[in-house]
Amino acid sequence: MKLLPNPFRALVIGSSGTIGSAFMDLLTNNPNCTGVVGVHRRSNPFIDYQNPSSIEDCATSLGRDGPYQLIINTIGVLHSDDWMPEKKLDDINADQLMELLKINTIGPALTIRHFAKLLDPRGSIMVTLSAKVGSIEDNRLGGWYSYRASKAALNMLIKTASIEMTRTKPQVAIIAMHPGTVNSRLSKPFRGEQIGRPAQDAAVDMFKVIEHLQTSDTGTFFSYSGEKLPW
Ligand SMILES: NC(=O)c1ccc[n+]([C@@H]2O[C@H](COP(=O)([O-])OP(=O)(O)OC[C@H]3O[C@@H](n4cnc5c(N)ncnc54)[C@H](OP(=O)(O)O)[C@@H]3O)[C@@H](O)[C@H]2O)c1
Repeated sequence: MKLLPNPFRALVIGSSGTIGSAFMDLLTNNPNCTGVVGVHRRSNPFIDYQNPSSIEDCATSLGRDGPYQLIINTIGVLHSDDWMPEKKLDDINADQLMELLKINTIGPALTIRHFAKLLDPRGSIMVTLSAKVGSIEDNRLGGWYSYRASKAALNMLIKTASIEMTRTKPQVAIIAMHPGTVNSRLSKPFRGEQIGRPAQDAAVDMFKVIEHLQTSDTGTFFSYSGEKLPW
């Protein structure tokens, strides 16, 4: 049986991003979605992974309007003005590793902790965007040490939370999802404009997977195509 109720209310975390904005548009135009709220670094309330206390504050503030049947977290970084993904061992450095873990792992983990309280215990889904390159088993090319490690650690946190929530909230599914290569700010330095597809298409594909999820799918790493990816 499908887990996402009809009607449902949705929350997009990182709604200022390319994929986050596409989810906002898609859900705003979905007649079954009776309300969609977006939060990001400059929204009110705001969520900023450089400021971990903002995560709990944001959840507390939004909790007054809960529950939500769908929460999608799209926050993530791959590069910055100061560094690009590492190509070789000699590129590994503490600052980059710590930054990627802060934004791609610790922020999303605290988001799961605080925003899980906003999920409808009668039936709801929390999706966190991960990346296929975070799959340890699928790692064939190497490189991108900090991004791969931060998403692999994120995957472990999602899987672990899903096991706990099977006991505490059996009608909730918590999953990791790979959006595919999408033309966005994040992919731009890596020929994203040439090889990435539009974020609108990615959001449509991912929502098709989301709306068919069942409780038994909790703790799964899905690709946008519906394929189950190895952790
Ligand atoms: N694009 C791809 O090909 C691809 C492939 C695999 C996985 N993904 C994953 O998909 C997700 C979305 O990526 P995207 O392509 O949409 O990237 P994007 O356009 O760069 O969006 C990234 C989002 O993360 C937010 N963000 C960055 N640092 C933050 C911080 N310190 N605190 C709070 N928010 C912060 C950005 O907020 P601001 O607007 O304030 O900067 C923005 O909302 C990421 O998790 C990424 O790892 C993307």
